[in-house]
Amino acid sequence: MKVPFFDLKRQTQGLKKEVLSKFEEVVDNTAFTGGPFVEELEGKLQTYLNVDHAIAVNNGTNALYLALTALGIKPGDEVIVPANTFVATAWAPSYLGATPVFVDCDENTWNICPQKLEKAITPKTKLIMAVHLYGQVADLDSIMSVANKHHIPVVEDNAQALGASYKDRKAGTYGVISCTSFYPGKNLGAWGEAGAAFTNDEGLAAKMRMLRNHGCEQRYHHDLVGYNMRMSGFQGAALSIKLDHLNGWIQRRQHIAKRYRSEIKSTHIKWQQAQEHSDSVYHLFVITTENKEALLEHMKVNDVGYAFHYPIPCHLQKAYHFLNYKAGDMPNSEYLANHCVSLPMFPEMTDEEISAVIDCLNTFQ
Ligand SMILES: Cc1ncc(COP(=O)(O)O)c(C=O)c1O
Repeated sequence: MKVPFFDLKRQTQGLKKEVLSKFEEVVDNTAFTGGPFVEELEGKLQTYLNVDHAIAVNNGTNALYLALTALGIKPGDEVIVPANTFVATAWAPSYLGATPVFVDCDENTWNICPQKLEKAITPKTKLIMAVHLYGQVADLDSIMSVANKHHIPVVEDNAQALGASYKDRKAGTYGVISCTSFYPGKNLGAWGEAGAAFTNDEGLAAKMRMLRNHGCEQRYHHDLVGYNMRMSGFQGAALSIKLDHLNGWIQRRQHIAKRYRSEIKSTHIKWQQAQEHSDSVYHLFVITTENKEALLEHMKVNDVGYAFHYPIPCHLQKAYHFLNYKAGDMPNSEYLANHCVSLPMFPEMTDEEISAVIDCLNTFQ
């Protein structure tokens, strides 16, 4: 049996009629940018996360850019960013002329290491960016306590963990602002590009709403140098429908992960250690193995799809050569980059496909 790494068509086909009929409403209302369908989504997201303000924008990268602009990050500032993340986390400080200061991940949870984070703080540190990678919430207790001790705000990059909880609250409600991505392949994916920022701070929310719309509250009165980061009405409409399914999809991802964790007996692989006080929403199911090439060959022969998240850590990306990091600076992130394999993980996987992945891993010697 062939098991794809990911198949977005299954979910899309299932929702096609409903989403297309809402798209007709968008057309009939010519509500193409911002407007009632985006506002409906913002209201639903506020309820879902239990936050005061959701600011819908045109992608997750811009949500982070908007957040850091609103927080006043400027040239010369240092912003702490995990070395093990999708590189977009680092773009926002770079866009603003600030320096991303990369910090290694913990060797077991693969999220930012709180001890190394504290060591990276200098008088220039103006912000900590906490990423909940692969769907698993980072060690928020430790991160928040370091941040509070040094009076540094935290922005959560929640692009991969929307819907995950930490203690009694949702991830994305601990930092002063959190951001998410609705890139089509995310747990909650748009039918195009989209993202959002969240906050309980009314002043920051007002500033972000202005900044996303050319810096104005009142049309043609531009109080700030703003951007055009408005969300398309079509994405608001699609995401409003899809948000109602998110918890069910997360449960299915957790079921698949539970089967992988309990039924895969191979001693050649290691997985992401669970974070205390939290349950991953398994955007990705990443493992590491010392025998990566042999495992990939075995998966190929057995027709099981795979991917890599991520093959190069941020500090070794060409874009950041000018920061003079070198191999060996972030041993845990580098180990992960060199040994990671992502297994198929999407809610529409059939029970047979899940079993086929498990059988494949169990026959790997
Ligand atoms: C951790 C992380 N941050 C930021 C982004 C950027 O989001 P987008 O692709 O919507 O710009 C993504 C996803 O692509 C991501 O996974």
